[in-house]
Amino acid sequence: MPEVRAEAPGRVNLIGEHTDYHEGFVLPCAVPQRCVATLRPRDDRRVRAQSEQIGDEVFEYELGGEQRRDAWVDYVQGLTWVLAKRGIQVGGFDLHLDSDVPLGSGLSSSAALEVATMRALRAAFDLELTDVELARIAQRAEVEFVGAPVGIMDQMAASLAGERAALFLDTRSLEFEQVPLPADLELVVINSGVAHQHAGGDYVTRRRESEEAARLLGVDRLRDVSLDRRLDEINALPSTHARRARHVVTENARVLEARTCLLAGDLKRLGQLFFESHASMRDDYEITVPAVDLLVDLSRRQPGVFGARMTGGGFGGAVVLAVTAGSGADIAANISSKYSNQTGNDGQVLLPRLT
Ligand code: GLA
Repeated sequence: MPEVRAEAPGRVNLIGEHTDYHEGFVLPCAVPQRCVATLRPRDDRRVRAQSEQIGDEVFEYELGGEQRRDAWVDYVQGLTWVLAKRGIQVGGFDLHLDSDVPLGSGLSSSAALEVATMRALRAAFDLELTDVELARIAQRAEVEFVGAPVGIMDQMAASLAGERAALFLDTRSLEFEQVPLPADLELVVINSGVAHQHAGGDYVTRRRESEEAARLLGVDRLRDVSLDRRLDEINALPSTHARRARHVVTENARVLEARTCLLAGDLKRLGQLFFESHASMRDDYEITVPAVDLLVDLSRRQPGVFGARMTGGGFGGAVVLAVTAGSGADIAANISSKYSNQTGNDGQVLLPRLT
């Protein structure tokens, strides 16, 4: 049977962090780093999966016999497990994955892997799935099989976002709009080198705390708390709940304003929103780490930078900067070398891509 090849990108979220599982707004873009899936259908029900980055190890399982192994192959097993639950038929296959989306950097290597594999499965087995359905299957695999209770931003971004437009997404309705990046805007992404993972504690804790805050405010999801009407009520909650709710509610408002800024070409205000978002993640949601805060502080002092903020789930990962077009490579090199001198960590520049 013929081999198919499909790919999907990593993503950088411009703004709208930890809003997706509250059915709020997000604004991610694709990055050039991507996962490439090469798949050859088999005439039995066996799956053999291999990753270029891991070496010679081949994971094998039988369709219907998916079992969590706490390894990358769980993302693949999660997809075939969800497909079966939805009554969508696929046969066995040999799968080879090759990704240059760095792990644990906040660029969502997992969604790139899931969506690349889903695209390959869709092509190989003629599945009638839209890009949105494909993202939903990928998210369900991650939540229900891998056990990471994530929202839908990353899978939607990997499935639908481009590099020169931000995907403005309403995570409640899944309606989306491509918002072109102004020509004078360039994005820079620098990795702190502090790796995170989301199946574990901190992401889950933040999610739980903010869901408790929603309940205390009498709503199911913080999307339903409007900023102007409810800030007093939010501030009256117990301190931790107040801070968690304040972040999500103000962040949703910032995403809406950031979309307007992109459409109007107002990069100055866009940059301020980045800094405000970072402060909110640092002080209210408490998901930044000192290394990431340092990268944002160094950016603030760098000419040509409109704004900077941590991107992704937090507790490490990368920062995204909005800078004047054409100056990204120099700015990134400057900040990264100051960061390395001060911390001894390697501040790897992920965007602009230097290779
Ligand atoms: C991770 C999750 C997303 C989202 C972000 C935080 O990337 O996968 O669903 O919650 O964190 O914005």
